[in-house]
Amino acid sequence: MTSLPIRPAPHTGPAAGEVIVDWFAGAARDLPWRRPGVDAWAVLVSEVMLQQTPVARVEPVWREWLARWPRPSALAAASPADVIRAWGKLGYPRRALRLREAAAAIAERHGDVVPSAVPELEALPGIGTYTARAVACFGHGQRQPVVDTNVRRVVARLVHGRAEAGTARAADLDDVAVLAPVDEQRAVRFSVAIMELGALVCVAGTPRCGTCPVRDRCAWRLAGSPAHDGPARRVQKFAGTDRQVRGRLLDVLRAAPEPVDAAALEPAWDDAVQRSRCLDSLLADGLVEQTEDGLFRLPA
Ligand code: ADE
Repeated sequence: MTSLPIRPAPHTGPAAGEVIVDWFAGAARDLPWRRPGVDAWAVLVSEVMLQQTPVARVEPVWREWLARWPRPSALAAASPADVIRAWGKLGYPRRALRLREAAAAIAERHGDVVPSAVPELEALPGIGTYTARAVACFGHGQRQPVVDTNVRRVVARLVHGRAEAGTARAADLDDVAVLAPVDEQRAVRFSVAIMELGALVCVAGTPRCGTCPVRDRCAWRLAGSPAHDGPARRVQKFAGTDRQVRGRLLDVLRAAPEPVDAAALEPAWDDAVQRSRCLDSLLADGLVEQTEDGLFRLPA
């Protein structure tokens, strides 16, 4: 007689999405852009800043930006130089210019009100699948799947039994949508709750399964927590990269009250070839401009 394979019993309690929302009530970080009354413009600014920068570094800059530019039209009226200076050390400064362009489009096309429809949000410069849905959900209270890297990792483990998420797919949105509670307000909370679960518990590397509210129905754990079998995750290095050199060059120009010559940029980086390549890329990206007499400055 062949023995039956031992399978874990299907889970019968409340649905995973409901459990994640309840967990969030006790575990959520108190982040300023999550507080009641934060409008969709403030949410949009936070989401753009948070995309590649940790929460702690974003918080003071986000406050400064909203105090200075409380409406999209105010940001649109600022000079690129002001915007790049105010971006400070958040990194990936092209985001600052794109956000200013999005602000101009909101002011022009939408009467200075951040739109709530996902297609209108996605039509704004620099606003992609993730940011459009985050703004519709967190800024306008809409049921929307909001799928960032952390959420994709939670779904890979909880639903698909894999250690890590593969490359992003359109189906990721459906995977998350089906987990969301039926009640609209809880669905909105679910979108931020699953993001928080990925940021605090179901982290990359070694997840903290001991504190996970859905560990009893996690497909990855039920499969014996198999190791990741795909290519190793790339760990982004920073030291010595063009990104670091571009940051150093921008630091010099941010601090300079007047346009500077090429010699003033030399202390930023010793390697002249890399320095020059990075300066060229900043010029091409519109983050630096050259005056008629050959000096360099942030774009006026
Ligand atoms: N809350 C809402 N959106 C967030 C994000 N992108 N990162 C951290 N907390 C958030």
